[in-house]
Amino acid sequence: MQHFLDINSFSATELWQFLKKAKALKDELKTNGSNKPILAGKTLGMIFQKPSLRTRVSFEVGMLHLGGQAVYISPQEIGLGKRESVADVARVLSGYVDGIMARVFSHDHILELAEYSRVPVINGLSDYNHPCQALTDVFTMWEHFGRIEGLTMAYVGDGNNMATSLVIAAAKLGFHINIASPAGYSLPPTILSQAKSLTEDTEVNILVTEDSIEAVTDVDVIYTDTWASMGQEAESQERLKVFPPYQVNNKLVAFAKPEAVVMHCLPAHRGEEITDEVADGPQAIVFPQAENRLHAQKAILALLL
Ligand code: CP
Ligand code: NVA
Repeated sequence: MQHFLDINSFSATELWQFLKKAKALKDELKTNGSNKPILAGKTLGMIFQKPSLRTRVSFEVGMLHLGGQAVYISPQEIGLGKRESVADVARVLSGYVDGIMARVFSHDHILELAEYSRVPVINGLSDYNHPCQALTDVFTMWEHFGRIEGLTMAYVGDGNNMATSLVIAAAKLGFHINIASPAGYSLPPTILSQAKSLTEDTEVNILVTEDSIEAVTDVDVIYTDTWASMGQEAESQERLKVFPPYQVNNKLVAFAKPEAVVMHCLPAHRGEEITDEVADGPQAIVFPQAENRLHAQKAILALLL
């Protein structure tokens, strides 16, 4: 049994298995209008402690496409770790479903679910990382450029769960990454040293800077995410004062390669981390990226359940 908790747990070969499966399932769907029901009779329990559009709908529709069914469990319902211990939730759910997808505040809850679950656990975002999104993002880069290795991404913004997943994905799959964040909001030092140790014997460059122009100059991909993640709402006003130099606008995008693309995991806070002109502009691939959540996660479901 295999869980999908972080990018770090997988080798490049295993990550490529997910990517190739995603491509095969996407091609099958686009060609035939449907997928083979390889998960017929299987169910996925989806625990949500936070809101979601993409994660919820893409997992639910993904299960349907593969012949299975998903059960949505809302933030109000099970009171993970409050009404009932995380371990007991895992033990009980494992008796009903063939896989558990969970979106939680504390990554420890993901680890605890995985420890006590008898079925695969998929991390649908925690305070630590967002591996389903990062897998989707590299799939989208592969689809757009025909390769991943050797590309350069600039991640501009908060050194958050997305930045964490992307820097590890870069280290594993061989793309360079420049991360520009304001002082005090950069990638956690443990993540950075983990990523750097993974790239010791490789050509992959990881640059951490406070200078957004330095980060985006001549890159292939510009990536940004919200300045205040879910759970950090109380810090929003403070962050709004610090982050404006990290806004992805036309002026900043002009420093990247002319053929560079702009990515965002969404939801976008238009006028904050990204402007309308960029989000709706010719270089943005944010909506194909969002669609790819469906295809990438179907690969995870197909290979794990
Ligand atoms: N990108 C992403 O995970 O979106 P949701 O929060 O809507 O699921
Ligand atoms: N960093 C964001 C990602 C949302 C998909 C958050 O955690 O809210």
